[in-house]
Amino acid sequence: MSPEDLKFVRRTYFPTMIFQIDLPDPQEMNARLISNIYAERERDRKGISRSNLPQLGGWHSHNNLHKSKDFAELVTAVKIAGEKITEDLGYSTDHRLSIGTMWSIINPPGSANRAHVHPSCLWSGVYYIQAPEKSGDIEFIEPRTVHLMNQAKFQPNKKRSKENWTKVRFTPRAGRMLIFPSWLYHAVDPNMSTAEGDDANRIIVSFNINQTKK
Ligand SMILES: [Fe+2]
Repeated sequence: MSPEDLKFVRRTYFPTMIFQIDLPDPQEMNARLISNIYAERERDRKGISRSNLPQLGGWHSHNNLHKSKDFAELVTAVKIAGEKITEDLGYSTDHRLSIGTMWSIINPPGSANRAHVHPSCLWSGVYYIQAPEKSGDIEFIEPRTVHLMNQAKFQPNKKRSKENWTKVRFTPRAGRMLIFPSWLYHAVDPNMSTAEGDDANRIIVSFNINQTKK
């Protein structure tokens, strides 16, 4: 028997999907969002404590930004993204993906977000509003922890195929949205930006979405 005689097929199941959505010409909307978010931080200096590390300066707003008209344009973008996901995955057309909670995070230099998941929802997302160089990549971690227990040896100096990755990192880019399964552990690196003043801040809006009956 030779290798050619074997009918050899690799099938892949249980994939982990991350949607990447780029908004067209986001500069004006982002400028408005930045001033709205700083105004919100002025109103609520303390914010709330979640994956942010307030002792390092990371600020986390309350969770109802989607109810404010100041965020309506972004809410619309998330709604359209939700419609695309619904279509792409063949979800029930009697339901829509709706925002349950939406918040903002400002990470000044030195702050980060610890690894966490977002309970009680289906999909979660992040929209990057200001992301200077080295302001902190987001890292998603292999959800199949069994796969982390015993790693195969791979060819050195050769890029592993995506099927064999145990983490994936995205460098934030203003105007980009990522939507990922809410159960997928993720963390944000410390902001190491060397930009001046507020330009060094990493500013995002994040949200949780669930299916609701139309
Ligand atoms: Fe998160």
